[in-house]
Amino acid sequence: MASLTIRQLDDRLKKLLRLRAAKSGRSVEDEVRTILRAAADEGSDGALPEAAAPKMTRRADAAPQTKRVLLIIGGGIAAYKSLDLIRRLKERGLSVRCILTKAAEHFVTPLSAGALVGEKVFTDLFDPAGEFDVGHIRLAREADLIVVAPATADLMAKMANGHADDLATAVLLAASSKILLAPAMNPLMWSNKATQRNLAQLAADGVALVGPNEGEMAESGERGTGRMAEPLEIVAAAEKIFGATADKPLAGKHILITAGPTHEPIDPVRYIANRSSGKQGHAIAAAAAAAGADVTLISGPVNLPDPTGLKLIKVETAREMLNAVGHALPADIAIFAAAVADWRVANAGEQKIKKKAGEKTPELSLTENPDILSTIAHLTAKRPTLVIGFAAETENVIANAQSKLARKGCDWILANDVSPQTGIMGGDNNTVQLVTADGVERWPTQTKQDVAAMLVARIAAEISKS
Ligand SMILES: Cc1cc2nc3c(=O)[nH]c(=O)nc-3n(C[C@H](O)[C@H](O)[C@H](O)COP(=O)(O)O)c2cc1C
Repeated sequence: MASLTIRQLDDRLKKLLRLRAAKSGRSVEDEVRTILRAAADEGSDGALPEAAAPKMTRRADAAPQTKRVLLIIGGGIAAYKSLDLIRRLKERGLSVRCILTKAAEHFVTPLSAGALVGEKVFTDLFDPAGEFDVGHIRLAREADLIVVAPATADLMAKMANGHADDLATAVLLAASSKILLAPAMNPLMWSNKATQRNLAQLAADGVALVGPNEGEMAESGERGTGRMAEPLEIVAAAEKIFGATADKPLAGKHILITAGPTHEPIDPVRYIANRSSGKQGHAIAAAAAAAGADVTLISGPVNLPDPTGLKLIKVETAREMLNAVGHALPADIAIFAAAVADWRVANAGEQKIKKKAGEKTPELSLTENPDILSTIAHLTAKRPTLVIGFAAETENVIANAQSKLARKGCDWILANDVSPQTGIMGGDNNTVQLVTADGVERWPTQTKQDVAAMLVARIAAEISKS
C-alpha cells in the first residue's frame, strides 16, 4: 500500500480518525487501513463506512479493568533486567507499553523490547509518525502506572526538576498516574548529595520507590547500595500500588508510628516515665495495617499485647526511639503518637544508687531529650510526605497545638486534653481535634480505635489527592 498522508486530511476527519483509533486501540494509520479494507470488501466507493465496527485489537480486547503499565527504560546497565520485567508484568495480566530513552538504546534495542511488549516501542519525542499516532500526552494518560526501571541518576534529576526535553521526561511531566521508580546506579552516584536531594524531592512529589538493593555491582569488585530491585520485586511493588482499593486505601504505603511512653533511666533499676498507655498509637498502627499499609510501629514500654501484621520495634528511651525512627525511614507517612519524655537524667547512675544513712538525698539533674517530631519534620532528605504529631495538653489545647504545628514543622497535629479529669491518658476513649494549616476539626469523643479509624480515613483522603 502507498504511504498514508493523514496530515493532509482536514481537522474534523483527523479528530474522527483519532477517536476511532483510540477506541479500537489501533494506530491512526492502522485505523485508516482497516476502514479502506472494509470499504474494499464491501465494494464501497471509498466513503468512510460508519457501520464498520472496528475489529478490536488485543489491547482493546483486554477486560476494561486490565491495568496499563507504561515502562520507561533508562540508560543503565540494569536495562537488560527490564526486558525480563516486561515478561513478568505481562505474566500478571498487565498491559505494557514501553519507552526507551536514547541512552537506554545503548543497552537494549527497541527491537528486543518491542518483541516482548508485542507492539511498537516509543523512543522519540519528535517522531512525527509517533506523535500523530499516539503522542506523548496519550502515552502519559493511557497508563494506570508508570514504572521507570532502571531509573538512572540522570532521569531522577530531570524528573525532580521538571525537565521535559525527551519523550520519557515529557511523558513523566504530563502524567497524572502514579509513578514507581526502580533506581539503579553506582553506590557513589546513589549516595551523592545531589541524588539524595532529588530523591527527597521526588518522594515529596508522591513518587513511589522500589529498591535500590544492596549487593554486588556490575562494575567488577564494587559493592554497595545501588542495584536495581529484581523484576519480581518491581512487579510486587506495582501490584501493591494497584492493590490500593476502597477497602485497602493505604496499600503500598509505608507508615511509621511511634507509641507509648519512654522510660528514662535514673539508674539500672529506676526510671522516669509518664502515664501514656500506648493504646492510641497501637490502635492507629492496627487501623493502618488493616487499611493495607506496611506499618512499622516503634513502641515504648507498654502493657499491651504485641500486635500482629506489622513490624514492631520495642524501645525504652527517647534516644532509642529516635534511632529506631531514623532506621525505619523512608516512610510515606509518619505518625508520632508516643509521649516522649522531654528530659532524661543527665547524671544517671551506672550502678543502683544506694540509700545510705546520714548521706544527702541524691539530686537528679535533667537534660533535654531529642525532639523526634521536629527532627523528622525538618528533614530535607527522606522526610515523609505527611508528618503527624500529637499534642497532649492540659490547658489552651488549640492555641498550644497551633503553635506546636508551626514550631515543629509537621503537617497535622492531633491535639488532646490530657488533664487527669478527662481520663484520656491511659483510658479507652479520646477527644481529639485535628489541627492543620487549614484550620481545626473537632472530632467527637470516641474510642481510641474509632479515632484511629477516623485518622486512617482522613489520611487516605489526603493521599488520594496526590
Ligand atoms: C556502561 C555505562 C553504564 C551506565 N550505567 C548507569 C547506571 O547503572 N545508572 C545510572 O544512573 N547511569 C548509568 N550510566 C550513565 C547514564 O547512561 C547517563 O547518565 C545517561 O545520560 C542516562 O540517560 P537516561 O536519562 O536516559 O537514563 C552508565 C553509562 C555507561 C557508559
